Amino acid sequence: MSILLINIKSLLQAGDGMTSPKRGEEMSRVQSVDDAYLLIGNDNRIAEYGRMDDMDPKIQEHASYVYDVSGRIVLPCFCDSHTHLVYAGNREQEFVDKIKGLSYGEIAARGGGILNSAALLHTYPEEELFEESAARVREVISKGTGALEIKSGYGLNLEDELKILRVIRRISDGFPLPVRATFLGAHAVPGRFAFNRKGYVSEIVNSMLPEVAKEGLASYCDVFCEKGFFSVEDTEAILDAAAKYGIRGTVHADQMSCSGGVEVGIRCNAVSVCHLEYAGDAQIKLLASSDTIATLLPGSTFFMNMKYARAGDLIRAGAAVALASNYNPGSSPYGDMLFMLGLACVKYGLTPEEALNAATINGACAMGLGTECGSVSRGKLGNVIITEKIPSLGYMPYAFTSPLINTVILGGHLYGKLQDTVRRD
Ligand code: NIG
Repeated sequence: MSILLINIKSLLQAGDGMTSPKRGEEMSRVQSVDDAYLLIGNDNRIAEYGRMDDMDPKIQEHASYVYDVSGRIVLPCFCDSHTHLVYAGNREQEFVDKIKGLSYGEIAARGGGILNSAALLHTYPEEELFEESAARVREVISKGTGALEIKSGYGLNLEDELKILRVIRRISDGFPLPVRATFLGAHAVPGRFAFNRKGYVSEIVNSMLPEVAKEGLASYCDVFCEKGFFSVEDTEAILDAAAKYGIRGTVHADQMSCSGGVEVGIRCNAVSVCHLEYAGDAQIKLLASSDTIATLLPGSTFFMNMKYARAGDLIRAGAAVALASNYNPGSSPYGDMLFMLGLACVKYGLTPEEALNAATINGACAMGLGTECGSVSRGKLGNVIITEKIPSLGYMPYAFTSPLINTVILGGHLYGKLQDTVRRD
C-alpha cells in the first residue's frame, strides 16, 4: 500500500543523503520544500517528494491512498534517542518528597530513586510490565516519536534486567517503529552490593553482559557515571567489556557533577554521552572534536529544577547535539518530544531549526539510525508527522502544549485524525 500526501504547506527536513549528524552552523539550517507532495511506497519507505508543480500525474493515479493536507506541515518523526520507558508503576511519592526539599541524590541515598523502581519492577510479571510500557509507547507515538531507544536499568540483577530487555524486544517486534535496546545494568548499585560496588561491576562484566550478548538483546551498553553511582574506572571496565561483544557504549555523564563521563565516553568510542548539565569548557571542547554525540535531556533538568546544559556553547563549538526525552519515572516522567523542543528553545536558547535537527537527524544518528530515519530522504522510512494547520516550524516549540500533531504515519499505519478520513480510492 502506498500513501501520497499532496498540497503539503511545507515539507521539512527534506533532502537526500542526510545520514550523518549535523554540527555547528549546519544545525541552524532545515531544508524545506513548500507546496509539496510526498509519496511513501509499498515498502513504507520514502519513494518520492518534491513540489506539487513538478509531480508526475501518474504518481497520484497509482497511489493506494491520497490525502490532501493543505495548510499542514509535514516533517520526519522525532527520534528519541534516550529513554527508560520500560518501568513499573511510578514514583509520585518521591515527587512530593522533592517538593518538600529532598534532592535526587538524597532520595537515592535513602534507598529511593532507581532502587525504588527496581524493587517494584521485581514484583511485576513480564506481561504486566509489557502492558504498562506499551501504553507509554502508544502515547509517545501519538506525540510524534517515530524511532526510540529504550534502556534497561531497573532490574539490577540478571533476571530482572533480562525481563526488561525482553519487554523492549517485544515492543520492537510489536510496534512499527525502529527500537534500539540499551543494557544499563550500571544504573545504580543494588542493596546487596551496597558496600561492594566493585563486586557489582564484576557481576555486570562477567555474568550479565555475556548473557545479554548471548541473547542478542542490546545494541548499546550504558553506565551512569556519577558520584554515588559508578566511577570513571567502573565505566571504562564495563564499556570495554561490552565492546568485546560488539556492543557500543553510551554514558550518563556530568548530570550532577563534572564526573569524567565525557572523557571516558569519548575514550571508549561511545556513540553518545548524555545529560551534560555540568559539562564545562574542557568537555565542550572535547565533544566538538569527537564523533560522540552530545545528547541533551532538558525534560529532566526541568523536572529536577537543576541547571541547564550549555547547549548553545556546544553547538557554537561544533559538537553534534541531539535532544531526547529521557522518559523515566524519577527525573522525566514524560516522553513528549514537542515539550523537549519547547524547552530547548526557551531554556537552552536554541532556534527552532537547531532544536528540530537535534530531535530528528542527530537523534537518529545517536541510535545508529542515520540511514533509516531523521529526515525526509528517498529510501528512508516513511515515518512522518502531519501537523495541524500551523504557520511555521517555529510555532511548534512556541505553542508546545497545544495539540499540534494531527496524524503520525509509521510503517504505513496512520495514527491520528487522518486515520478516519476518507481517502481517494
Ligand atoms: O537519566 N540519571 C540516571 N537515570 C535517569 C533517572 C532514572 C530514575 O531516576 O529513575 C536520568 O535522569
